[in-house]
Amino acid sequence: MIESPELQQVDRTYVQYKGRKLIYFAGCDYFRMASHPEVLKAVKDGLDQYGLNVAASRLTTGNHKLYGLLEGSLANFFGAESALLASNGYAPNLMVAQALAGQFSHALIDERAHCALVDAAQLLDCPIIKFKHRSPDDLGQILKRLGKIKPLFMTDGMFSHDGSIAPLQEYVHLLPAQGLILLDDAHGAGILGKTGRGTPEHAGVPRKQIIQTITLSKAFGVYGGAVLGSNSLKKSIVAKSRLFVGNTPLPLPLANAAIQSIRILKADKNLRKRLIQNTNTFKVALNNGGFEIQNNSSPVVPIIPQNAKQTARLNQQLLTSGIYPPFIKYPGGPQSGYFRFVFSSEHTQEQLNLLLKALLV
Ligand SMILES: Cc1ncc(COP(=O)(O)O)c(C=O)c1O
Repeated sequence: MIESPELQQVDRTYVQYKGRKLIYFAGCDYFRMASHPEVLKAVKDGLDQYGLNVAASRLTTGNHKLYGLLEGSLANFFGAESALLASNGYAPNLMVAQALAGQFSHALIDERAHCALVDAAQLLDCPIIKFKHRSPDDLGQILKRLGKIKPLFMTDGMFSHDGSIAPLQEYVHLLPAQGLILLDDAHGAGILGKTGRGTPEHAGVPRKQIIQTITLSKAFGVYGGAVLGSNSLKKSIVAKSRLFVGNTPLPLPLANAAIQSIRILKADKNLRKRLIQNTNTFKVALNNGGFEIQNNSSPVVPIIPQNAKQTARLNQQLLTSGIYPPFIKYPGGPQSGYFRFVFSSEHTQEQLNLLLKALLV
């Protein structure tokens, strides 16, 4: 049974909920690309020009020029040697693990890594060791204990449950020369870094030993995923990943829309500027109001109620202010649930003020 409410997103920053139109500070459509008129037009044009579905693996008769074009756009946007598409954002991690299985002595994974990485680790054919959440110290201790190893570090870039960011620079310093980092950057991609290239750009580290996996469903607002890495990694995945070989690629209208979304995100620098502005305005005001909010550039802000009474009160305050209460339970977050607010570039100052008023009463 799925017990979470059924929502219909409307007018970019609202949802329809139980007959009411409420302001929506949730989801991961950080630039509201899923409702951008040009992205929606690209879906329609793609359908008219190319049809819906190739209905075959890319390695048989399901390859199409749009996939190559989208991979080129992604490689260019992220400054990667190559990009390889996946049909969603969960799959790239599994594809990488299938391609690299047997090549590492140990997988060292953040204890709160996303379930996609947890599943990928099972495919690597080596011992898996968890390190403490976002802790280079613990990772360093483990490395010291294990001696000479060839590890794969596995971590999210921006953690979706609370918006915290992995200390990637420290991890790169700890990484032995023959090791690699598998970085699930589903939430960092398009968001973090000066040009939106994600957590590596945010941390100021070279891509050389990093395999970055991304989704097209969040900052890009469409659907699908990709692996960003070297040409030789791409070759290995195509040769060895059962998931890549035996899976139908994403529908063609979505590939067309993703190309358009990348183009918009690259051209319109104001989108990221507005997102940062909205995030900062909110975080500063909440900190001034006595909340302890992480001081980083992540647009995800968790508020964890102390008890059921506080949850009910906050829920009511939000509803009274015309705001959807984004109370969720999700792996990685507190078991009893929490409010997870997410900002977009498209929220207005007035909407932010309403939220602040509701939280600071
Ligand atoms: C860290 C992380 N990785 C992978 C995924 C999967 O991406 P998608 O839902 O676009 O398939 C998610 C989705 O929520 C995620 O948060």
